[in-house]
Amino acid sequence: MKLVVTGSNGFIGQNTCRRLIDLGHQVIGVDDLSEGSSRRPVDGVRYHVRCVTDTEWLRRLFRETRPAAVIHLAAVPRVSYSVQEPLRSATPNLTGTISVLNAILKSGLVGESRLVFASSSSVYGGADTLPTPETHPCHPQSPYALTKLQGEQWCRMFHRLYGLDVVSLRYFNVFGPGTRFGGAYSTVLPAWLHYLYVDSSYQPYLEGDGTQTRDFCFIDNVVQANVAAAERTDGFSAEVLNIGQGQAHSLLELHQALEQISGRKLPLERRPPRTADVAHTQADISQARAELDFNPTNDFHAELTRTAVWYRERRPAPAGNA
Ligand SMILES: NC(=O)c1ccc[n+]([C@@H]2O[C@H](COP(=O)([O-])OP(=O)(O)OC[C@H]3O[C@@H](n4cnc5c(N)ncnc54)[C@H](O)[C@@H]3O)[C@@H](O)[C@H]2O)c1
Repeated sequence: MKLVVTGSNGFIGQNTCRRLIDLGHQVIGVDDLSEGSSRRPVDGVRYHVRCVTDTEWLRRLFRETRPAAVIHLAAVPRVSYSVQEPLRSATPNLTGTISVLNAILKSGLVGESRLVFASSSSVYGGADTLPTPETHPCHPQSPYALTKLQGEQWCRMFHRLYGLDVVSLRYFNVFGPGTRFGGAYSTVLPAWLHYLYVDSSYQPYLEGDGTQTRDFCFIDNVVQANVAAAERTDGFSAEVLNIGQGQAHSLLELHQALEQISGRKLPLERRPPRTADVAHTQADISQARAELDFNPTNDFHAELTRTAVWYRERRPAPAGNA
């Protein structure tokens, strides 16, 4: 089948494209390379360097190629960046999503193309029920999280008004080979790997006391969900599905595991808790199991080791806004 992947050159985009090509699909990638261009292109993908807010160009692309599914990953996925630069975050993240929806509509592909939208667990904003089901109230704590929640609502609106086949996947903290350090806006795992394997002059730090926990979702599981959502024979009605592993690990546990895997000390500067940080995340994945046959792997130590080995061997360049 033919698919368009936006954000094709990013961490999740590249891994998703690689899997889709392996499965024999035709893949068209769209990315403005705002996060950098140092990643190796995936063989077999037809790339276009374009911004997803260019809805007229997207409309022409969709009309010419008639993809069966669009996996919309393009975004600037940095929580603290969005707190400092709310408008710069909203433009790609929200305007970009409305632009993709609009381009599907205006290319006459409603009824023919499915949209798989990359949402985020950050929409919950600190849930009091763990594991958290999709029905839990959402209280986004950052402009980034708000753009993701609004993106889901726009998807629902396009389903209601025009009958678009669309599903939103709320990814929890994704990690694995291909993850990259994002400078001041980096999440902890790539930042700590950057110190261990790329640049020992970088000062790694811990915000808060480290007891905060995260549902770390290995990249292969996110790819599995993206592919299942794109390939499913039954249409979607703007469902929202959690994509995590259903288990949580503390940052202290992550720190200890990385010291053990690398055989090195990882000295952390202690900092106050981050603005808009949430204490705990853990996905209830029963809906994804039912709707997508989602069956994530769950070997945190082995998955961390694979990630660390990849980092050590590749020593990846920081993402664009580092
Ligand atoms: N990585 C995670 O832990 C995580 C968790 C929840 C949700 N998500 C979501 O998954 C998606 C992919 O995340 P990722 O980790 O691969 O991020 P990434 O930064 O590695 O990749 C995003 C890609 O989108 C591209 N891009 C940004 N703005 C664009 C625009 N206006 N037009 C075209 N391309 C643009 C960037 O150049 C980059 O290649 C994002 O929507 C993100 O919000 C990620």
